[in-house]
Amino acid sequence: MSDDFIRCENLVKIYRHSGVEVQALQGLDLWVQQGELLGIVGASGSGKSTLMNILGGLDRPTAGRVHVGKYDLLKLNNRALNRYRRSMVGFVWQQVSRNLIPYLTAVENVEVPVTLAGQRKTSQRAHDLLKLVGMNERAHHRLDQLSGGEQQRVAIAVALANQPVLLLADEPTGELDTNTAQTIFDTLRDLNTSLGLTMLIVTHDPAIAYRVNRVVNVRDGKLASETVRRATPSENEADSHVSYHILDSAGRVQIPKEYLKKYHIKDRVVIDTNDEGIVIKPVTGKNYEHRD
Ligand SMILES: Nc1ncnc2c1ncn2[C@@H]1O[C@H](COP(=O)(O)OP(=O)(O)OP(=O)(O)O)[C@@H](O)[C@H]1O
Ligand SMILES: [Mg+2]
Repeated sequence: MSDDFIRCENLVKIYRHSGVEVQALQGLDLWVQQGELLGIVGASGSGKSTLMNILGGLDRPTAGRVHVGKYDLLKLNNRALNRYRRSMVGFVWQQVSRNLIPYLTAVENVEVPVTLAGQRKTSQRAHDLLKLVGMNERAHHRLDQLSGGEQQRVAIAVALANQPVLLLADEPTGELDTNTAQTIFDTLRDLNTSLGLTMLIVTHDPAIAYRVNRVVNVRDGKLASETVRRATPSENEADSHVSYHILDSAGRVQIPKEYLKKYHIKDRVVIDTNDEGIVIKPVTGKNYEHRD
């Protein structure tokens, strides 16, 4: 599709540590449209941060393809990848300390990256960014005089300082209570609309599905399923979304673990068809002829 802003194809990332290999991404395919607000969920260790780091130019994949806008990230040398990261990407992390300097005020924290991005009227621009995240009134408070949610808002303003076109938020609400988390999600959604930023939010909060149009579920380094908001809203909130299982480019689909357990499926299945589609059945004595 022409308006896909992010295209990941068969993305593989292998970490090697003292002879041990970890396959963090195992052939992940992902397409994200320009201006989309995408939620990413998945168990711990499933590869979410690895994906974010690759998209943000902080890390490189072992194999596969990854395009962001006009950039083919695998083709960029280290210098070009740094330039891509500094000009295109904003990051929001779970630990606000990763984005902020504790002994500076909110506005000073934003002025630092505004200056680094080479923009003029630094102070005005920093105040404008704080206003965007609803923090202008606290501009002169030091970080330790701000709540966790307020600090995370400042961190979002910092992430916007280089005028990124892609904002990557890795568990931005991980250290916040539910109500504060809700306000941070709302702020991110407002920025997505008002600035037209493409935004990816990693979270463990399943309620993200009610705040974004699409949520993808990463399992074992691949997309397993996605939940999409229905175009025609339903009165019942639970019916307002539809879930799909992802078929990868080789035609493989991940069967949810609970189904494998429920139907006692191990390493083989019987595939059948009926008028409605394809049926995946457990192997039973009846249909399993073992030959030595
Ligand atoms: N720098 C690294 N070196 C070695 N292994 C790594 C490295 N970074 C991640 N891994 C491994 O890769 C796998 C995926 O890690 P990743 O951080 O992407 O998961 P995640 O989905 O973000 O998990 P969480 O929800 O806990 O943040 C894990 O098994 C992890 O241990
Ligand atoms: Mg992570």
